[in-house]
Amino acid sequence: MVEDWSPASWREHEARQQPVYADAAALQSAEAELASYPALVEPLETDALKAAIADAQQGRAFLLQGGDCAESFAEFSPANIDASFRLIMNMGGKLAAASGLPIVKTARMAGQFAKPRSRDEEVKDGVALPIYRGDIVNGIGFDAAARAPDPSRMFRAYAQAYATLSRFAELGEAAGERLYTCHEALLLPYEQALTRKAGDQSYDTSAHFLWIGDRTRFLGSAHVEFARGFANPLGLKCGPSLTPDLLLRLLDVLDPERQPGRITLISRMGAEDVRKKLPPLVRAVQASGHLVLWSCDPMHGNTVKAANGYKTRPFSRILDEVRYFFEVTPAEGAIPGGIHVEMTGQNVTECTGGTVPVTEQDLGDRYHTHCDPRLNPAQAMELAELVAELLPRSQSKAA
Ligand code: PEP
Ligand code: CO
Repeated sequence: MVEDWSPASWREHEARQQPVYADAAALQSAEAELASYPALVEPLETDALKAAIADAQQGRAFLLQGGDCAESFAEFSPANIDASFRLIMNMGGKLAAASGLPIVKTARMAGQFAKPRSRDEEVKDGVALPIYRGDIVNGIGFDAAARAPDPSRMFRAYAQAYATLSRFAELGEAAGERLYTCHEALLLPYEQALTRKAGDQSYDTSAHFLWIGDRTRFLGSAHVEFARGFANPLGLKCGPSLTPDLLLRLLDVLDPERQPGRITLISRMGAEDVRKKLPPLVRAVQASGHLVLWSCDPMHGNTVKAANGYKTRPFSRILDEVRYFFEVTPAEGAIPGGIHVEMTGQNVTECTGGTVPVTEQDLGDRYHTHCDPRLNPAQAMELAELVAELLPRSQSKAA
């Protein structure tokens, strides 16, 4: 039991990045209906993931998180689910073979629908409309009807998550391996509606693992308030503006009992900044005695605009950030315990570079993402190759 917390207590705090629904009654009835639905994931499985992350915190396992930046209704198909499942398993297989460690696999799928945005509105040709916030909120098309936040989209997201989970369970059984799910706990009405009690604890049953994004991790945040009360393993994105002092305060709020497996800190500094910005955070956490898992998101600090206007990420910078992360954490006495990437099993052209290079001119060919650029399978496997080289050495140093 967490003191002074309820699944709705976030409503007394500052909730950033939330849509404004025109019809409050429709929102309320959607929330009430979702709250009566079955849990999407079972607390027992969530506890199993937490135990696996606790092992990773001790250097006895490694956490692999991968999948879409934003899942979409349009890209929902058995072929896409299967391709992403296979890709995560193949990356995991490479890492396991190289390191001898169990690889804990979680997909940014079955719930990764809501997106934080840097503006509330998008303006085109003098017309201003609400920004696209992910398919669970509104449509990506630039017209007033599509962009109006619609609470009934939460049901479609729930259905897609349910079907994706059930396919993962089938594939996992056949492969003899489990794939957990994770997403950013951003759309608070949806997350609250899927919170269930088990024993004297509450679980956010929308996924096994939830994280708080870089834009919603501040003191007084509704997202922090919500996350403090559920028992799931929790991620916290750590971007360049995070200070050691704020990080320690957030850890005290989010993990006052210092539970093994509870906290994963996901560094997303960018290749330029990681060697400067990450060490003070690692040092502060080490000195505080908080037990965390350090993971590297080499995507979100390395987004650039190509000359032809596409939002992209140079693959070489992604690899650089991973390399630097694997230098910096052991140098501070911590374990580099995971990676967190945006990728897809489809052969997209969204990030530039790689051994079979995607050029800036290629970006228009198969650019399908609803938000940030993802690695394609060849790039994802190349990244896994690099981590496979770095992992055994880093673990023996930390041991
Ligand atoms: C994301 O993971 O898609 C995301 C928006 O990340 P961040 O909060 O780190 O910017
Ligand atoms: Co993203």
